[in-house]
Amino acid sequence: MKRIAVVPGSFDPVTLGHMDVIQRAAGLFDELHVLVVHNPAKTALLPITERVTLLEQSIDEAGSPGTIIVASWSVGLLVDYATDVGASVLVKGIRSQVDVAYETPMAIVNRHLAGVETIFMLPDPAHAHVSSSLVRQVSSLGGDVTPYVPAPVARFLNRS
Ligand code: PNS
Repeated sequence: MKRIAVVPGSFDPVTLGHMDVIQRAAGLFDELHVLVVHNPAKTALLPITERVTLLEQSIDEAGSPGTIIVASWSVGLLVDYATDVGASVLVKGIRSQVDVAYETPMAIVNRHLAGVETIFMLPDPAHAHVSSSLVRQVSSLGGDVTPYVPAPVARFLNRS
């Protein structure tokens, strides 16, 4: 049986911390779905389609130890997507206790809803301070985001 997992997130935009988790998770599963999900609690910088394109370009440029599928999901529960594609695991990156507190209730609810387990991965400490919200702020104020994001995202944001 194929081991299939989903890495969900806003990815607005994808950061080097996300890429670290995505690439290491791809080596652990037969198929990894990187799923862009709209988070109504956050003010978006990029449209979903642009986030998907930048993820695809970033994964292409970085290479991957396994099969990665980039998709987006806007209808219904995250676990509905996971069930549709045969995934029994969600993978989330955890940088701090704040992330643990944010992710824990979602992990419990997703397991109750559909029996989907959540695995937490620690990003490399080199990326512990990097977040999409920090990138959005630096970018919107005209700063250089190159140290925090994959090259395709830096090219896109630094020229827009
Ligand atoms: O990168 P983010 O914004 O922290 O990602 C959060 C996200 C999109 C993964 C989360 O908001 C989510 O899982 N949304 C899907 C909606 C859903 O299924 N909710 C019910 C169970 S928590």
